[in-house]
Amino acid sequence: MPDFVCQTPADMRCPLTLGPPIYFIYPIILYCWFRHRSVTPTASAIIITDMDKAESQRYMRRALALAAKGAGRVAPNPMVGAVIVKEGQIIGQGYHRRFGQAHAEVNALAHCAKQGHDPRGATMFVTLEPCCHQGKTGPCTEAIAQAGIARVVIATIDDCALVAGKGAQWLRDQGIEVEVGVCQKEARKLNAGFFKLQKQGKPQVILKWAQSINGKLAYPPTSGTNDQPRWITNEKSRRHVHQVRSRCGAVLVGIGTVIADDPLLNVRLDKPAPQPLRVVVDSKLRIPMTSKLVRSAREYPLLICTAEQNLKEQPDLVEALIASRCYVAGLPTDDTGKLSLDAVLLELGKRSITELLVEGGATLHQAFIAQGLADQIMVYIAPAFIAGDNAPKIDLSTLAVEGIILQDVQQQSFDGDVLIEGYIKAL
Ligand SMILES: NC(=O)c1ccc[n+]([C@@H]2O[C@H](COP(=O)([O-])OP(=O)(O)OC[C@H]3O[C@@H](n4cnc5c(N)ncnc54)[C@H](OP(=O)(O)O)[C@@H]3O)[C@@H](O)[C@H]2O)c1
Ligand SMILES: [Zn+2]
Repeated sequence: MPDFVCQTPADMRCPLTLGPPIYFIYPIILYCWFRHRSVTPTASAIIITDMDKAESQRYMRRALALAAKGAGRVAPNPMVGAVIVKEGQIIGQGYHRRFGQAHAEVNALAHCAKQGHDPRGATMFVTLEPCCHQGKTGPCTEAIAQAGIARVVIATIDDCALVAGKGAQWLRDQGIEVEVGVCQKEARKLNAGFFKLQKQGKPQVILKWAQSINGKLAYPPTSGTNDQPRWITNEKSRRHVHQVRSRCGAVLVGIGTVIADDPLLNVRLDKPAPQPLRVVVDSKLRIPMTSKLVRSAREYPLLICTAEQNLKEQPDLVEALIASRCYVAGLPTDDTGKLSLDAVLLELGKRSITELLVEGGATLHQAFIAQGLADQIMVYIAPAFIAGDNAPKIDLSTLAVEGIILQDVQQQSFDGDVLIEGYIKAL
C-alpha cells in the first residue's frame, strides 16, 4: 500500500498506515477516502486534497474575479482577491481596492468579521502569495495566522523578492496548511503586467487597433479638409475600448495619429473611472501646442517622449510644453532617428506602469511587432471593406519571423463588430 499524504491539518490526517488491530479506525478510513476523493499521484506519494479540485477552482475563480475589480486602481501593486470558506460556505471575501490601501486578505477577514462569522479553522483562497513584509500595510501572513485560518490556497507565488515563497513558508511554519498552484495560469495572466515589471522593468504591451475586414486601419486621408476622423468600429466597440483604457496605466500613440486624428485619449464612461497616463512617441517634437492632448494636459496627464537632443535643440518648445503641464522625456533614438521603443518602455517602467495600451497607428504597431516588444494584441474588426490604396494597413512584410500566432485567444462581438484578442507568439 502506498504512503498517503493528506493535506489537512496534522490532527485530521488519515491513519492509513496504522496496523489491523485498531479495527475501529476503518470506518474513519472510509470516511476520509470519501471526503478526499480528489487524488493526485506524484512521484513518491499520492496527495489527497482537502477539497474537490473543481470546488477549489470555483472558489479561486471567485477570488480572481474579485481581484480584477482592482484593475487600473492598484498598480504598481498586483490585483489580488481573497475568499474565505468554512464548511462549504463563503464567510468572507475581499480584494485589493486601491494602491496604498488594505490588501485582499485583510479586506476578506474584515468582511468576515463584519458578517459575524468566525474564520478559525477556515480555508482562505487567495490569488497571490500573501505578503510577509511590512509595506504600506502590515504583513498579511500575520493577519491570516492571527485570525486562525487553518489552510491557505494560493494561486501563484509572488515573484517580488520580498515575498518569493517566503510568505507561503512563514504560513507553513505556523502550522497552517498551504497549497499553491490552483488556477495558476489565470492568476499569472491577470497580473502579467505586475510580473513583467518586476522582472524586466517594463510594462505589459497590449497592441490595440480597429480595422475593416480587409485590414485597413483608417479611411484614406481626405486631403485639405478638417473633417473629423471617420470611425471604423461602432459605438459599442468604442465604449469597450474606454473600459480597456481605464484598466491600463498608460495609453500610447505615435505622432502620426496625433497629427491625423487629434485624439484626446482619455477615458469617457458613464461612471468615474481611472484615467491612464497618455503617451506620445514623437522623435522630432512635432506635437502641435494646439492639439487636444496638449490642451488637456492639466486635466489628464500627458507624457511626450522625444529624442534627447530635442531638449537642447528646441528649448523654447520644451519649455512651452512643460508650462502647459506636459511631461517631456528625452530618450535615445535608433539608427534611423526614431525613438527607441525599448527606452520608451523602460521610461514607463520607471513610472511604475504595469499595462500599456498601444493605440496606433499602423507604423507604431508594425514597429512594436517587428522588434518583438508586444505581448498581447486586441483587434476590433468591423464588418466593412475600405477601399483605397492609401488607406493605412499593418504591413509585416519585413518581419524576421514567418508570422505570428495568437495564443489563449478570446473573442467577443459588439453589435456586429468582432474583437479578437490573444497573446503573441512568433512562429
Ligand atoms: N484603426 C486604428 O485603430 C487606428 C489607431 C490609430 C491611428 N489610426 C490611423 O493611423 C493613421 C496614422 O498612422 P501612422 O502610422 O502615421 O501613425 P502612428 O503609428 O501613430 O505614428 C507614427 C509615427 O510615430 C513616430 N515614431 C516615433 N518613434 C517611432 C518608432 N520607434 N517606430 C515607429 N514610429 C515611431 C514616427 O514619427 P517621428 O519619426 O516624427 O517620431 C512615426 O511616423 C491615421 O490615419 C489614423 O487615423 C488608426
Ligand atoms: Zn499583503
